[in-house]
Amino acid sequence: MLRIGVLVGAKGRGSNLMAILNAIADGTLNGQVAVVIGSLKGAPALEAATLACVATVVVGTANRTDDEYGEVLLRAIAKRDVDLVVLAGYMRRLPDALTTSYAGRIINIHPSLLPAFGGHGMYGRKVHEAVRDAGVSETGCTVHVVDNEYDHGAVVAQRCVAVHPEDSVDDIAARVLGAEHSLLVDVIRDICSGLRPLPLA
Ligand code: GAR
Repeated sequence: MLRIGVLVGAKGRGSNLMAILNAIADGTLNGQVAVVIGSLKGAPALEAATLACVATVVVGTANRTDDEYGEVLLRAIAKRDVDLVVLAGYMRRLPDALTTSYAGRIINIHPSLLPAFGGHGMYGRKVHEAVRDAGVSETGCTVHVVDNEYDHGAVVAQRCVAVHPEDSVDDIAARVLGAEHSLLVDVIRDICSGLRPLPLA
C-alpha cells in the first residue's frame, strides 16, 4: 500500500488532510498516511492528525538555515518510507534536498488554475482576493508536481469552479476548497491505483 507523507501549513486548518484521511477511512482511497509534518506544535492540522491516530512530527524553521531545515525534513520523511509527499496548505518553498530526493513524488494543491494566480506570495485567501479583484468568471484549483520554484512544476490535474459577480472572497474560497478536496483525493487515488505511476513526469 502506498505510503503518504503530508506536509501541512504552520497554522494549517487541515481540511485537505482530512479529505485524504476520510477517503482512506471510508475505503475509497487505498493508501496510508504514514506521517503528517508541520512546523508549529498545536496547529489544527496536526491536532486533527493526532485525533485520527496518525503520527505527527514538528519540524520548526526557527534557528535553521534552509539547508538544515531541508535535511531534517528529508530525514523525517525518509525514516517513514514515504512513497508520495503531499503538500496540503504548505506555504513555503520546499528545500532543494527534498525536491531532488523526491523528484516526481511530491504534489501540491494550489487554490487557483495555475499558472494564473500563482507564484511567491500568492497563497490561501490572497489568491481568492486577487481572483475577485481581477473580475474573472472562473477559477479553480490545481494539483501540480513540486519543484524548487513556487507553484511551478508540471500540472497533474485541475478543476474549475464558477465565480459569480456577487461572490465575496469567502464565497469563492469555499467553492474552491470543495473542489480541492475532491481533486486532491482523485489524484492520490489515481497514484495509489497505478493509473498515474510514480515518479510523475
Ligand atoms: C488550501 O486552500 C490550499 O490550496 C492552500 O492553503 C489552503 C489550506 O487549507 N494552499 C496554498 O495556497 C499553497 N500555495 P487546509 O489547511 O484546510 O487544507
